[in-house]
Amino acid sequence: MEKGFLSSSSSRAHHRVAWVLLCLCMMLCRVHGGSSRKVYIVYLGEVKHGHPDHVVASHHDMLTTLLGSKEESMASVVYNYKHGFSGFAAMLTPEQAKQLTEFPEVISVEPNRRHKASTTRSWDFLGLNYQMSGSGLPHGTNYGEDVIIGVIDSGIWPESRSFSDQGYPPIPSRWKGMCQLGPDWDKNNCSRKIIGARFYSAGLPDEVLKTDSLSPRDYGGHGTHCASTAAGSAVQAASFNGLAKGVARGGAPHARIAVYKTLWGAKGVGYTSAFLAAIDDAIHDGVDVLSLSVGFPDENSFGALHAVQKGITVVYAGGNDGPRPQTLENTSPWVITVAASKVDRSFPTAITLGNNQHILGQSLNYHVVNSSAGSSRFTGLVSDECTIASLNATAMDVKGKILLCSPLPEDPLAIAPGITFNNALQYVRNGGGSGLIFAQYTTDLLGVCQGIACVIVDLDTGKKIKKYILGTSSPMAKIELARTVIGKEISAPKVASFSSRGPSPDYPEIIKPDIAAPGANILAAVRNSYVFMSGTSMATPHVAGIAALLKAQHPDWSPAAIKSAIITSAHVTDERGMPILAEGLPRKIADPFDYGGGNINPGGATDPGLVYDIDPRDYNKFFGCTIIRRANVSCDATALPAYHLNLPSIAIPELRHPITVWRTVTNVGEVNSVYHAEVQSPAGVRMEVEPPVLLFDAMNKVHTFKVKLSPMWKLQGDYTFGSITCHKEQKAVRIPVAARITIQDFYADVA
Ligand SMILES: *[C@@H]1O[C@H](CO)[C@@H](O)[C@H](O)[C@H]1NC(C)=O
Ligand SMILES: *[C@@H]1O[C@H](CO)[C@@H](O)[C@H](O)[C@H]1NC(C)=O
Ligand SMILES: *[C@@H]1O[C@H](CO)[C@@H](O)[C@H](O)[C@H]1NC(C)=O
Ligand SMILES: *[C@@H]1O[C@H](CO)[C@@H](O)[C@H](O)[C@H]1NC(C)=O
Repeated sequence: MEKGFLSSSSSRAHHRVAWVLLCLCMMLCRVHGGSSRKVYIVYLGEVKHGHPDHVVASHHDMLTTLLGSKEESMASVVYNYKHGFSGFAAMLTPEQAKQLTEFPEVISVEPNRRHKASTTRSWDFLGLNYQMSGSGLPHGTNYGEDVIIGVIDSGIWPESRSFSDQGYPPIPSRWKGMCQLGPDWDKNNCSRKIIGARFYSAGLPDEVLKTDSLSPRDYGGHGTHCASTAAGSAVQAASFNGLAKGVARGGAPHARIAVYKTLWGAKGVGYTSAFLAAIDDAIHDGVDVLSLSVGFPDENSFGALHAVQKGITVVYAGGNDGPRPQTLENTSPWVITVAASKVDRSFPTAITLGNNQHILGQSLNYHVVNSSAGSSRFTGLVSDECTIASLNATAMDVKGKILLCSPLPEDPLAIAPGITFNNALQYVRNGGGSGLIFAQYTTDLLGVCQGIACVIVDLDTGKKIKKYILGTSSPMAKIELARTVIGKEISAPKVASFSSRGPSPDYPEIIKPDIAAPGANILAAVRNSYVFMSGTSMATPHVAGIAALLKAQHPDWSPAAIKSAIITSAHVTDERGMPILAEGLPRKIADPFDYGGGNINPGGATDPGLVYDIDPRDYNKFFGCTIIRRANVSCDATALPAYHLNLPSIAIPELRHPITVWRTVTNVGEVNSVYHAEVQSPAGVRMEVEPPVLLFDAMNKVHTFKVKLSPMWKLQGDYTFGSITCHKEQKAVRIPVAARITIQDFYADVA
């Protein structure tokens, strides 16, 4: 599958088309190169030779043996990984790659892969209201001042007001990173806010580099958006042309930012080899949290594993291929995989028809100063089904008119409204039209109108408008500017429809995603302004920012403890007690495969009561064989199923006989505490917890309990969901449980 940004200011589907085109180009370019050599990633495990120079020398020794000369070895290497883990990326023929797997020290050899890079309001909604003299601000977090967040993305725009370092204390002395210069990046571009900046351009095709600059500067905007969401300083009166006006700031507004530019060009092209180099450097530099808003193949998740084993919390976007199940990416157990939710903000946009009927849609329709577009006056109204073919033709007269696009349900494009929306917008603009009314099922993506008036309505509303058009000789309509509505009248949070869903195709024995965070229509910095973007890309830095706050408050917490605090405190109901919904086809009550533990609750995460901690070496025990896929290395074949890992969740994908798992909790709250377990069994499963009461005091800070799950019937079943909650007065430490009763192994549910 092609890779790109995990976000979209208007349409991810549109991006996908662009990606396919780029991939084609790349393949042709390779052929043009006249060589069958490709970049392979060779993984050698822990750094064993001490000094990085020695590690690099050992890589060259190995390649010299393989290729016959030192010169060939030097010429073939693209990146050396030498700080956090040992390995390299090198240009090799498939035969050479295969020969390498026979070297005893080689753990895996994988081809290089392409990647897709997958606010003002969101922080208030989460209860982190920094405007009101710290109310809602967790104690001891100091806005994340001593914490360093590494953002591996498309670079940064240092002039944005979000990255002002005014009033910042000196850079933490433990920082070992660097400020890599470029033609449009001098040493003053690094600051007490952006404390480090590097870029990774090795092996990139020239066509990609031509559209970008060899520096950490971000022309695409994605990296700047993500960095300002994670750690942007407070900026007054940020808005997108007046919409969503407020104080823009990151989750940890005083955290320091380290930039690792791995995505290039307007579309954000990047390769695994560069991401691994960035992670390797980030481990060396001393970041505390890594934020990665990109799709990443799981066979190369060893980079993140080494980072986590060095105490770095790694946060990844879950992907934008929802609402289809099993579409999640980045699902390794050691990372935090993030789903996207919607916040309590909407942009109602009034439409008035010629018969004076009033209709509400949503849009980001704003006033364009020197244009008649976006202005609210009556114009003619025409209707079209907006198929690819009809939008490609030029037959229809839309000049000066508003076009109603109402795709037929059987049109395959109706399930990819993002593409159609952009095509329709182009069609109206090219034809000199004044506006677009676009009917679709909910996708949670509000496209930017691009100079004409535009508004999105539900399919049933689209039908109503069409009926009016058909029953009138000269149909008319006007589209007003969007308003911004926030607060209690909006049903929120909801899991966004585009957010990828579990279960994880790579690790069905754990629950993924881990958490949902705001990711739909998020306003954040791009160059010198503030724009909306949507995607799990936008949700990821929200979680990274909160992880930074937790790290500031609890410097001794492991990445597993930080993840546990985030998952066990998450909300599964809104503030009225109504269950959180998941948008999709159809909309439904959200379950752990939509949002993991639930929607993120930063205040709760800072004081979780109990944490499910994991010794980072345990990951090897459970996943040695998974990482060492396709390599000629013996791994521990007796490895336990992953549900025995001490995660703050339990997933049993095949429950045929009673299965017992153990969980260990550590008290990080009041020393003398008593917790009572409340069990909600998944339907069809009997779940027993033993002991049901846990007593903590100065001597007993850690307790282990047993969870026995028994199928109630012999059944080839489906996943059902439950939870185990440890209660102490108002405090609830909740973990999700998913189980599927089965009779047969490897049953394909296709009948
Ligand atoms: C960054 O460096 C460029 C020159 O490379 C300079 O023009 C610009 O003003 C600098 N920006 C900041 C914020 O220092
Ligand atoms: C508005 O005017 C600016 C500058 O004169 C121009 O760059 C821009 O394209 C105009 N916008 C429209 C929608 O005509
Ligand atoms: C769009 O129109 C062009 C020229 O008329 C034609 O070559 C192309 O195949 C059309 N594309 C689609 C998707 O219909
Ligand atoms: C694995 O390596 C050993 C030597 O260490 C070799 O004898 C064996 O053929 C290799 N197996 C495969 C499947 O490549």
